[in-house]
Amino acid sequence: METKNHVFIATSIDGYIADKNGSIEFLQTIPNPENLDFGYNAFIKKMDAIVMGRGTFETVLEFGISWPYQIPVFVVSSRIQDVSDDLARKVEIVNGSPTEITQMMTERGFTNIYIDGGITIQRYLQEDIIDEMIISTIPVILGGGTSLFGELTDLLEFEWISSEIFLNAITQVKYRRKR
Ligand SMILES: NC(=O)c1ccc[n+]([C@@H]2O[C@H](COP(=O)([O-])OP(=O)(O)OC[C@H]3O[C@@H](n4cnc5c(N)ncnc54)[C@H](OP(=O)(O)O)[C@@H]3O)[C@@H](O)[C@H]2O)c1
Repeated sequence: METKNHVFIATSIDGYIADKNGSIEFLQTIPNPENLDFGYNAFIKKMDAIVMGRGTFETVLEFGISWPYQIPVFVVSSRIQDVSDDLARKVEIVNGSPTEITQMMTERGFTNIYIDGGITIQRYLQEDIIDEMIISTIPVILGGGTSLFGELTDLLEFEWISSEIFLNAITQVKYRRKR
């Protein structure tokens, strides 16, 4: 089966995934009394591994909650080599280009991979190996922060798959890379 790389992420109207202070508090601006998951649980059920950048990994650790993932997590970093003993069986540190990482993961039998983190997603897009993106837009303009998208050499065409509106405020659009 062909390996597919997926993005599931929330941004501000102006395309930031964290604010100027690195905070993701803006994700909570819309009251969510019933704790909607915005389709996350259905999405993650279809994934068999996660690739996340060191920045996102460190944010998850800062939450101070128990490890939230049930599937293997590959953290991309050129700086860290090891994780704490309690995460050793759940997290692997990887290095290399997105294409090399995807190849390694394909050889290990992973077929649906969730790619998370601003820089990481940008590097995957630069190598044109993102297949699907689910992007939720929170109706705030942050005016700066960590960008979801960055510079690319070539235009990448995506086809629209579906749109949903949550809490009368958050639009969520699913795109597939047109190949
Ligand atoms: N809004 C949302 O839904 C959402 C989702 C996820 C994250 N976030 C936020 O986004 C921020 C983190 O994003 P970020 O821009 O810092 O990006 P990131 O992708 O999480 O982390 C970037 C780091 O990943 C490593 N990396 C990425 N690709 C690599 C490669 N091919 N080879 C080696 N290392 C690689 C590098 O670490 P080294 O320096 O160690 O080499 C790089 O500095 C956090 O504030 C987080 O809270 C928001």
